[in-house]
Amino acid sequence: MDAETPRQKWDRIYREWKGPFPDAAMVLSQNEHLLPGGGRALDLACGLGGNALFLARRGFEVDAIDLSEAGIEALAHAARLEGLPIHAQVGDVMEGQWSNGSYEVIVVTRFLERTLVKTIVGALKPGGLLFYQTFVKTKSSDHGPNNPRFLLHDNELIRLFDGLLIRYYRDEARTGRPDAGQRDEAFLVAQRPES
Ligand SMILES: C[S@@+](CC[C@H](N)C(=O)[O-])C[C@H]1O[C@@H](n2cnc3c(N)ncnc32)[C@H](O)[C@@H]1O
Repeated sequence: MDAETPRQKWDRIYREWKGPFPDAAMVLSQNEHLLPGGGRALDLACGLGGNALFLARRGFEVDAIDLSEAGIEALAHAARLEGLPIHAQVGDVMEGQWSNGSYEVIVVTRFLERTLVKTIVGALKPGGLLFYQTFVKTKSSDHGPNNPRFLLHDNELIRLFDGLLIRYYRDEARTGRPDAGQRDEAFLVAQRPES
């Protein structure tokens, strides 16, 4: 049998999804106080769109893009029910149709494509904020991918986004007691300089 494509895999996962709609990722919910009062936001590779819903409920107009039709359909339905301004689109983020945008806020969680870094930075407005959270090589559980291509090295988010001003960073790796604290992922909030 042929292996599933990423689109087929995520469509299957979202069609079989039985849990509640996902909450926003911690990088966003725990740093909510850094958000501006409103504006345009982008949830890149949004999946079911927990981040998009969180932002739209706080007054942002949100573009949300994902490869998975099932994920986007579920998000668009949830947005309609609440009357939220979310423009949910099926699309391949590598094709960059979103890159002409100009956003106050961009969120990327549990998705890593290093070649998009420049485009992400370019799509932020001056003063705009990037919220990024994804898995690290030093994770201490089997949560998340195992392919090293999708795992961050120590300090890698800081290096990748070194053109931005770092406002928040956390990566506990396996330091101390790995059963405590916030493990498996790195968390970054960074701001595009005003000029
Ligand atoms: C681990 S999920 C994360 C979803 C969401 N950001 C979250 O944190 O819940 C990874 C998502 O990336 C999407 N994805 C993978 N490659 C993509 C691509 N080239 N373009 C758009 N979405 C993509 C998948 O469809 C999937 O929804």
